[in-house]
Amino acid sequence: MALRAVIVGAAAGGGLPQWNCNAANSAAFWRSGTPTAAPPIAATQSSLALSVDGSNWALLNASPDIRAQIMARSELQPRDPANHGLRDSPIRSVLLTNGDIDHIAGLLTLREKQCFDLFMTAEIAEVLDANPIFNALDPTCVSRHRIGLERPFDLLPGLQATLFAVPGKVPLFMEGAQVETDLMGEQTVGAALTDGTRTLHYVPGCARMAPSLADRLRGAECVLFDGTLWTDDEMIQQGVGQKTGQRMGHMSMSGTDGSISAFADLDVSRKVFVHINNTNPVWRDGPERAETRTAGWEIAYDGMEIRL
Ligand code: MLT
Ligand code: MN
Repeated sequence: MALRAVIVGAAAGGGLPQWNCNAANSAAFWRSGTPTAAPPIAATQSSLALSVDGSNWALLNASPDIRAQIMARSELQPRDPANHGLRDSPIRSVLLTNGDIDHIAGLLTLREKQCFDLFMTAEIAEVLDANPIFNALDPTCVSRHRIGLERPFDLLPGLQATLFAVPGKVPLFMEGAQVETDLMGEQTVGAALTDGTRTLHYVPGCARMAPSLADRLRGAECVLFDGTLWTDDEMIQQGVGQKTGQRMGHMSMSGTDGSISAFADLDVSRKVFVHINNTNPVWRDGPERAETRTAGWEIAYDGMEIRL
């Protein structure tokens, strides 16, 4: 048995290209059907599929693009009806790491009375509980499990997960007049996933490298980490938004406070950027992509597979 991870969606909210965006990366797709340089041509919104036996799968976050993601991966499609019947899915469980739209909207596609286990913190569960549209997931089929921080649980048979607090904020649509962008509690979490031998850390959203997070990740064998933006003000610079990365609860890759610097001395064997925004220059061949690679990082793409 091995821990198998498939990055089914490498992009941040909006995907690449984003439906209404004409900034460089998206425009390259709209104008030519291909980007200006390196792969990928396009990327779907943030989600990771995990399995230890190749037959039962867990999804970490349910992206609005989940239907396309299932269509792209035979492992996530209904199995042989002779053995599995007329309604089937290998997706046995879903774990949410925050309540943002790009991580929860795909749940609505998973209706149709298919049973699975849905795991999240109590705080993230409150977001779903407060939105009656999620009652489309019949509670007799879909069990909502509230999971405390630092409490290992079975995400799948043979795959244990432990949630930990990561600096972040409440979902965009739950923001009040005052927004705290550096909460460290149950709003935004990371997950340590282990088959008992190998461990993968998944942190698709993170506002800051808190000392406790650095301690946790030090020496890790594989970390999938928030790669939303290259620079904090890149959306402003590109003329497509008013928000900084910090305001959105994301640390940037570059700069002295950035993730590349923060990981420089953490001795992580395999580092992969995920949840990459469509404005991020690392999608294209160029100095930013080269710098990221030179610093020992991989840049995720849809369908990227990691076996530990
Ligand atoms: C984020 O990661 O900041 C969110 O996905 C933003 C959003 O919900 O659009
Ligand atoms: Mn997001």
